[in-house]
Amino acid sequence: MRKTLLLAGIALCCADVSSTVDAKTPSLPPYKDAGLPVETRVEDLLSRMTLQEKIAQLNQYSLGSNDNVNNNGEIVNVLPPEIGSLLYTADDAVSRNAMQRRAMEETRLGIPIIFGYDTIHGYRTIFPIPLAQGASWNPDLAGEAARVAAIESYYAGIDWTFSPMVDVARDPRWGRVAEGYGEDPYLASVFGAATVEAYQGGDMSEPGNIASCLKHYVGYGASEAGRDYVYTEISRQSLWNTYLLPFEAGVKAGAATLMSSFNDISGIPGSANHYTMTEVLKEKWAHDGFVVSDWNSVLQLIDQGMAPDEKTAVEYAINAGLDMDMVDNLYMPHLEALVKEGRVSEDRIDDAVRRILRVKFRLGLFEHPYVEEKPESERILLPESLETAKELAVETMVLLKNENGILPLEPDTKVALIGPLAKSRMDLLGSWRGRGRGEDVVNIYDGLSRAMEKPVEYAAGCDFEGSDTTGFAEAVKTASASDVVVLCLGEKYSWSGENASRSTIALPQLQEQLLAAVKRAGKPVVVLLSNGRPIDLTRISPAADAVLEIWQPGVMGGPAVADILIGKANPSGRLNITFPYTTGQIPIYYNHRSPARKGTQGRYQDIPSTPMYEFGYGLSYTSYDYGPLTLSSDTCSADGKITASITVTNSGDIDGKETVQWYICDPYSKTTRPVKELKHFEKKLLRAGESCTFEFEIDPLRDLSFRDTEGNPVLESGDYYIIVKDRKARLTIE
Ligand code: BGC
Repeated sequence: MRKTLLLAGIALCCADVSSTVDAKTPSLPPYKDAGLPVETRVEDLLSRMTLQEKIAQLNQYSLGSNDNVNNNGEIVNVLPPEIGSLLYTADDAVSRNAMQRRAMEETRLGIPIIFGYDTIHGYRTIFPIPLAQGASWNPDLAGEAARVAAIESYYAGIDWTFSPMVDVARDPRWGRVAEGYGEDPYLASVFGAATVEAYQGGDMSEPGNIASCLKHYVGYGASEAGRDYVYTEISRQSLWNTYLLPFEAGVKAGAATLMSSFNDISGIPGSANHYTMTEVLKEKWAHDGFVVSDWNSVLQLIDQGMAPDEKTAVEYAINAGLDMDMVDNLYMPHLEALVKEGRVSEDRIDDAVRRILRVKFRLGLFEHPYVEEKPESERILLPESLETAKELAVETMVLLKNENGILPLEPDTKVALIGPLAKSRMDLLGSWRGRGRGEDVVNIYDGLSRAMEKPVEYAAGCDFEGSDTTGFAEAVKTASASDVVVLCLGEKYSWSGENASRSTIALPQLQEQLLAAVKRAGKPVVVLLSNGRPIDLTRISPAADAVLEIWQPGVMGGPAVADILIGKANPSGRLNITFPYTTGQIPIYYNHRSPARKGTQGRYQDIPSTPMYEFGYGLSYTSYDYGPLTLSSDTCSADGKITASITVTNSGDIDGKETVQWYICDPYSKTTRPVKELKHFEKKLLRAGESCTFEFEIDPLRDLSFRDTEGNPVLESGDYYIIVKDRKARLTIE
């Protein structure tokens, strides 16, 4: 592994954060005058820059390796202080401030560096993985978590996070399904937008606000066979109706930046794609921030069979609209020559620099280049942050099965806690865990022990994989001496995330064998599943009395699980990604098209063709009764508005949060449409016995249209259906 010697070149002096730049000094050049509009300042600064200074702004270096084992930074002995950005991997703001001081004081123009980092689902307070967050159907709560993540990141010296990932992902073999919000473009749009707003706050220059980065632009989730870094075959139709939608929503929410993707999009890699980066993003959507490449994705244009050499790779990338080069270090050595040879215009360089400077000005970096250096006790793992982590973890968990109401457990139940995940800490954090540490995690054993009145008996039973069954006997003995077995199965943190594809979504046989073994004790078995992707539960679910999907729940996973198991919290998560019966069903997702033949025709001969647990599914400890679905009118003009309503009653005797999911269906269209499409959802607390009316205000152009191959909405007249659960109402557009 290559290690960086970056700090050798930095004078690590203690930063004086009070020495911000005085914006009002009259002799200052206009770009240093905070009172002037950003655009005036950008143009003034740009007019003073040499070509070399401009090119330097387009480079992001890395401070060694980040927490992704795939990413090892270049050896950087003495980092030039003129660089645009640094991928920052220190734990605090000290070296950031030292490096920033060099940029501010040792360079001709004093342009601050923007420090980026992968704060994905938390910086040090690690929240549930994004896939889990989507299953909460609570974007406000996910936003609260993102606020905590932003503040912790900011005080660690970070201005910019490479998040949210809004790739629609429908192949659970792909390890990166863990990093996004699931299979639905609308759900990903809502969570992506909420996260962007939470990171950036109203005004990015306020302390504690950081810039966001929508990634991976675009279509990375369509990776063939779930392998990473591979080709994706995406028609314009799918590009516009599936993959681009969450990016469009994120851009509307104000995302400062985007990251171009690794994948080859139908022959034009994401990092050299003029259509997506320039024609769509910058021209059609008028995004005025910048696009950063993914790690080495400029260099990868060579491996992908597009550019024959590094210089051509740079030419293709910059001309396609890729503004900043992450870690390749290729823009720096090649751009000047490319400009001189006329292969890249200086206008394009200016445009890229302008975009980067704009974000730096908006972040207030020129006025506040340094970050206050606070002690850890004041900036990470604060009690209220941990409370948010627990609340969110509770809401992400999905109860998949609960035979005979085995859950919730009485607090005096004697629990046998078994399985390789029962005492694990790191595995509850999942991939891309920022600066998260195992020691910060309250594991399932500790969480449950604190909640139960009787001691929780523990036996690991076996490891995550392998063939060693010697622990089974002890597990069965422990199970026999208990009232209920809580069996913790699932994946290690490294089994999902980047470069973590799997050929099967079944758990290793050893874990299934452990379940079969403990069943022999004759006690009810509650299976807890912790994983970063849907799992094949064909053999697990029928053998269990209850199954609770806890995903990778973060630092407060243990207490959150305990609250649900003893009924202190009522499960309210719903699947945001389909759980197939077997790997052979992949791809399988709810918003598919109608097949050409109905009935049994076209189905698999050997396995079911429907999923084991479908999108939107999840049980509760209470029951909800849905009243009739009504429309304010059953006809509407294209520019009219209709309100759909449904009254839901909590008919059980336990309070609960119910999510009403509103789908639409366009049964006949000149371009065929999915059998149903999520267009709105709302989660509300319903006290036992309480009724509440949920509404969906339908804007036909927004909610009923599809996109043509250039992204323009097309609304056809005719009949549509509004769908909630098994209720359906017809709406005619005149
Ligand atoms: C990943 C990105 C990440 C970047 C920087 C890449 O390998 O694909 O998601 O933001 O590294 O760490």
